Amino acid sequence: MIQGFDLERYLRHSRKVDTSDIDFSEAARSPLSAEEIRCLTYMMDIESHTIVYLRGILSTCAIEDPETTAFLSCWAYEEFFHGRTIRQFLDAYGVQVSPHRIAEVQKSTSFKEWLKNLGASLLCQVSRHFHGVYLTYGAISELSTLEGYHVLAGRTANPVLAEILRRLAKDERRHFSFYYNKARQQLQERNTQRLTSFVLKRFWMPVGGGVKPDPEVDWILRFILGEPSGAQIAARIDATISKLPGMQWFDRLARSREESLRRLGPPKTGAVSRPPAASTSSSGRSAWPAGAPQASGLEGSNASCEGQG
Ligand SMILES: [Fe+2]
Ligand SMILES: [Fe+2]
Repeated sequence: MIQGFDLERYLRHSRKVDTSDIDFSEAARSPLSAEEIRCLTYMMDIESHTIVYLRGILSTCAIEDPETTAFLSCWAYEEFFHGRTIRQFLDAYGVQVSPHRIAEVQKSTSFKEWLKNLGASLLCQVSRHFHGVYLTYGAISELSTLEGYHVLAGRTANPVLAEILRRLAKDERRHFSFYYNKARQQLQERNTQRLTSFVLKRFWMPVGGGVKPDPEVDWILRFILGEPSGAQIAARIDATISKLPGMQWFDRLARSREESLRRLGPPKTGAVSRPPAASTSSSGRSAWPAGAPQASGLEGSNASCEGQG
């Protein structure tokens, strides 16, 4: 039983995000900025990476907890459809995404991420307290993603995207609720608090860290949280996490935001990437002219970004 989270209800109601009433052919009627496309590509990659992340989690002591395994089964399913929905939107807008995108992202996953997974499974062998670590880690990730989707939904001039992001955020709120409430239970023990603080202080990375190159993580933090209002959002995430037992010190979102801004400088206004012209392919879908943005090509653009959600 998890206080504050009705697992049975979650399991009963878990489903893929419902976009059946969204007309994706309207996606290209309003513009997206080049930065929004880059950001959505990042989000799509991280959502789609969930299955790889799940493999890591299941190699830890999480596998021994029936509540966690029940949740993870539905969670991974929902996250898969988050990635797929963003991809569908990008596709409808005219952004080409490589069919091998997931494998490409996995290949570029850093040694640091691999080491983290290995460390987690090894730690589990010696400490039952590790359960609290990844639950807290999960709570921070879900809350960051939830806040990020709200920021993007509130900022975009594209109403189809805004609606999709709001729906994804609803799922993220449920995910956050599981991790947060389950973490609070685990963190009742002093040794779990100590281990969680130790691991987070040394190894925590913002959403996408270790999967995406560091400069891209900096870029996304600046893009989503770079405005002055972003400082308040980062502080809000930190304040929520710091209410967990033993986590009073938690300040990592604010700190990461500041570090990214120091490395990259203040946010700049991005150029608008116009939706496709009226020409359509034989399939009836709008066709991008040569040189149109491609999600796979955005990876290469990181090199020109000084600094990388
Ligand atoms: Fe998600
Ligand atoms: Fe989530």
